[in-house]
Amino acid sequence: MKGKIVLAYSGGLDTSVLIKWLQQKYNADVVTLTLDVGQKEDLKAIEKKAINLGVLKHYSIDAKEEFVKNYIFPAIKANALYEGKYPISTSLSRPLIALKMVEVAEKEGADAVAHGCTGKGNDQVRIEISVKALNPNLKIIAPVREWNMTRDAEIEFAKEHGIPIPVDKDRPYSIDQNLWGRSIECGILEYPDKEPPEDAFEWTVPPEKAPNEPEYISIEFERGVPRALNGEEMNPVDLIETLNVMAGKHGVGRIDHIEDRLVGIKSREVYECPAATLIIEAHRDLEKMVLTRHEVLFKQHIDAYWAYLVYAGLWMEPLKEDLDAFIDKTQEKVAGEVKVKLYKGNAQVVGRSSPYSLYDLHLATYNIDTTFNQMASAGFIEIWGLPTKVSKALRKIEQAK
Ligand code: ARG
Repeated sequence: MKGKIVLAYSGGLDTSVLIKWLQQKYNADVVTLTLDVGQKEDLKAIEKKAINLGVLKHYSIDAKEEFVKNYIFPAIKANALYEGKYPISTSLSRPLIALKMVEVAEKEGADAVAHGCTGKGNDQVRIEISVKALNPNLKIIAPVREWNMTRDAEIEFAKEHGIPIPVDKDRPYSIDQNLWGRSIECGILEYPDKEPPEDAFEWTVPPEKAPNEPEYISIEFERGVPRALNGEEMNPVDLIETLNVMAGKHGVGRIDHIEDRLVGIKSREVYECPAATLIIEAHRDLEKMVLTRHEVLFKQHIDAYWAYLVYAGLWMEPLKEDLDAFIDKTQEKVAGEVKVKLYKGNAQVVGRSSPYSLYDLHLATYNIDTTFNQMASAGFIEIWGLPTKVSKALRKIEQAK
């Protein structure tokens, strides 16, 4: 019997070549699957392309809302930034893609799933671990890892098999994008000492070309996630898309850093994540107003580990779920409004308020009219500093010997 393979299809050259490759090499029927996670591609055109390449069936799935609610929202609650910088935009989409691959494979009675990830990156790890966790019986095929085709050989193969070659084949970058951000790799960007050229960016203007007037926006949060923008309640997908445009216009969200890939490689990564940068900044600020010091400081470690697990392909790891439980508990009080000033590449929080605020003006004020008992501080300092005082004194005695 002819096998059936479900392929995660982006519509790009690699996965288009894969359709033919799988059909030939495995003598299999190929079912393609394209998810809309907000990458702003023409899904209809992608479907047409797949059909033209002779797939048995094509699935186009609008997963934007699911992506926001089940993946981006938890990332906001966790202030998720890998290595302090990267909002894990690509990382977050992979377990969702894997989930849909498995669902389609089960529905279609396929025996294998295939993807176009290379053997050097993180995405292979993320997709395969999630597939294995969801359905260990599915075979996973990762041809790009083995075929060792150069770009030229690939274009040759494409020509031979009537695969349309993208007009932008000279474009030097490899792009991955979704609602939470845009990742740009390859070409000149592989030289970490060189500033990324302007043609790498699409969602943001360079800060120096941003408007000369600042723009103020307000975001309202409830249970740790944004629900309204400038007083207007919005559905989460629209809200993020709108913020990408607004913040991008002010040059907010350009990221350029050295990143530790899972496979041990250090790489230079460039991103544009306007909405993510802004929302996490606002969320983090609001948390500080409603959580206690112990909650704030402890949660920073949990947040960093959460981001690491998700970056590292372990969306399905039980620890991630355990951490979610802790994080969700902390978010009960994360409600209120944050005012952000967008100006020349910055998204600066300039005001916040919350019904759960722990800020007490009467305690904080330097005015005379305060409820804080300053006399109590002397005793506090005496006891709080005792270990430091004692150890320094002892060291002095030892040094004098
Ligand atoms: N370094 C980022 C990550 O691992 C981005 C990867 C981009 N992936 C891609 N297929 N272009 O999440």
